[in-house]
Amino acid sequence: MSIEIEDINYLYNVLYEIMPRRTSNEVLSMDYLTFSAYIGDPNVAPGGWKTIKKLVDNSNINSKSNILDIGSNTGHSSFLLKMLTDAKVIGIDIRNDLVDISKKICDYVDLNVDFICGDIKDMPFENKEFTHIITTGTLAFLSNGHQKALEEMHRVLINNGVVIDTCLYYKIKPPKDVIKRASQKLESELLNYDLNQYKELYERCGFKLFNQVSMSEDNSDVDINKVIDHILYREELLCKEENMPIEEEYKLALKNRLTETLTVFKENENYLSGEILFFQKND
Ligand SMILES: C[S@@+](CC[C@H](N)C(=O)[O-])C[C@H]1O[C@@H](n2cnc3c(N)ncnc32)[C@H](O)[C@@H]1O
Repeated sequence: MSIEIEDINYLYNVLYEIMPRRTSNEVLSMDYLTFSAYIGDPNVAPGGWKTIKKLVDNSNINSKSNILDIGSNTGHSSFLLKMLTDAKVIGIDIRNDLVDISKKICDYVDLNVDFICGDIKDMPFENKEFTHIITTGTLAFLSNGHQKALEEMHRVLINNGVVIDTCLYYKIKPPKDVIKRASQKLESELLNYDLNQYKELYERCGFKLFNQVSMSEDNSDVDINKVIDHILYREELLCKEENMPIEEEYKLALKNRLTETLTVFKENENYLSGEILFFQKND
């Protein structure tokens, strides 16, 4: 199966359009994950759909595979996996509101993907249900219980099953205040790990690394102002379509929150690098 860039844009637009418009105060106070869905940013793996394609191309996933996407957020990676492989795909996320958004998108785009709300540290699945587990960096977002999550991942995988992690790690040790600012913006205590620490974490929990492929995309030269202009332009289009006036106060709130968030992320990204890691379950 193949996907076209129009398909990806369609997924982004559906996410954007199903989020009801909010007031300027709400834009400033909504939590980070809601905000990122609100601006139509599906919180995808670094490198976007190209990373998911690379992951699939370097794996043995096929239409008979049974994939679990952990920390599925609004479902973007799950949809891409389905479109690229036609495998059976289930996404799990701890936030019911994000799971609901994923289900709504599913109805729009008519893709057969299941989403359930649950904690990856205690998953509602039988032993050895899945051939593959995909995680687009979700371990970094767990405030605690990394070992428990990996034990659960081990339990629900078939013998020799595979975990693929699009792992974002610190290639340079970041100053404490950089991590602190990024964690505050993401509202989650970020894991301050280098690549070896991630590998050791998996290996301690019964997985063996058998392949690794670099995530080529580098976001460090993203022009923040261009991103903001694009989001504001799309906002104006949507409001025009719906005959809703767009107020200056609202535009300013959106611009301020975007500027603050993107500036902190860009600063953090200077210390990050990405690698797609392939682990096999040891029996
Ligand atoms: C960085 S996002 C993952 C991006 C997502 N896979 C995508 O492609 O759009 C991390 C996700 O992990 C979820 N999460 C955090 N802790 C979790 C837990 N204990 N169990 C399940 N999901 C969790 C968050 O709600 C968030 O949606």
